Amino acid sequence: MKLIIGSDHGGFELKKSIIEYLDKEGIAYTDAGTHTSERCDYPVIAKKVAEAVAAGEYDRGILLCGTGIGIGIAANKVHGIRAALCHDMFSAEYCRRHNDANILTMGGRVIGPGLAIEIVRLFLTTGFDGGRHAERLNMVREMDV
Ligand code: RB5
Repeated sequence: MKLIIGSDHGGFELKKSIIEYLDKEGIAYTDAGTHTSERCDYPVIAKKVAEAVAAGEYDRGILLCGTGIGIGIAANKVHGIRAALCHDMFSAEYCRRHNDANILTMGGRVIGPGLAIEIVRLFLTTGFDGGRHAERLNMVREMDV
């Protein structure tokens, strides 16, 4: 699986913890930045990661900001992106099983690294159930303008 990860300054420390986990597990990824704790604009990182996932360059993305909200709103502006904000393990499992989420968002000011890593693990290992959920996703796609 090809994975890309990005954050603004609000998610920077959490990105470092997740990258440490990915390295430890031998999971390959591209780090789309930001690369320092200096203030930056989350839409820039969201666009970079979301466009790369939508173009098929990556299978999944992880986006982090202070709350996980702004960066997810921005990512979902890109056609083909289903970004899901998850701060619990149930949501992490079901955003994959029912929504085929291709980007996970979390807030570095909301969640600690321990739970965040468990959420990442579920996001990367859980498959899409398909069936009626695929039909519903087609209905969502038809809403694209
Ligand atoms: C940056 O201060 C903060 O607004 C951003 O990280 C994010 O939480 C926005 O939704």
